[in-house]
Amino acid sequence: MIIAIDGPAASGKGTLARKIAEYLGFFYLDTGSLYRAVARDVLARGFRLDDTWAAVAMARSLDPASLDDQGLREPGVGEAASRIAGIPEVRAALLEYQRLFAKSSPGAVLDGRDIGTVVCPDACAKIFVTATPEERARRRFLERQALNGDVTYEETLVMIRNRDARDAGRDSAPMRRADDADLLDTTEMDIETAFDAAVGLIKRKISQ
Ligand code: CDP
Repeated sequence: MIIAIDGPAASGKGTLARKIAEYLGFFYLDTGSLYRAVARDVLARGFRLDDTWAAVAMARSLDPASLDDQGLREPGVGEAASRIAGIPEVRAALLEYQRLFAKSSPGAVLDGRDIGTVVCPDACAKIFVTATPEERARRRFLERQALNGDVTYEETLVMIRNRDARDAGRDSAPMRRADDADLLDTTEMDIETAFDAAVGLIKRKISQ
């Protein structure tokens, strides 16, 4: 059984997906960490982010054991990930790993931008998690502050808007709500409320 959770940066989809996986006893994959890891490896080897050959080579040789690296959460890595994620050959190179993971037994929860549309169009439940750009910027800003990040709320909001535009505007697997995905707007919700709402949506889909 596959649960697909998509949505924009800082919408809360990662926390939500992890909690849902724990609750259901399913395996969990943060697919953003794959793009982040490829970006990290491209940068670490001194290649340019628009070097398709280098990015594809890094994607093909990606070590899943390196996905827990804390460095992947650095703001620069997220930006770089969003750039290389626009390269169709990189997306293709990461597809098989995601689809194999999705077949984990008894089930898998995957979060990202294109899980419900491209990676697992047959997922039994799909949720598109969102929140206003201002609320997402507020959440990301607080996260960064806790890590002593040297960034203002205004800069964070600009970053969120730019990332949304890049992720939704690319030609290859753009961020989009699948036609059969439920929308979960978490702007006014704390994580527990969002979790309860998500579990309700999943149970309804499974019982249909
Ligand atoms: O945590 P946050 O939402 O900021 O980002 P993330 O989920 O770690 O994803 C980083 C970047 O990877 C995104 O901005 C996307 O461009 C890309 N990505 C993607 O293209 N497809 C996915 N399934 C997951 C992430």
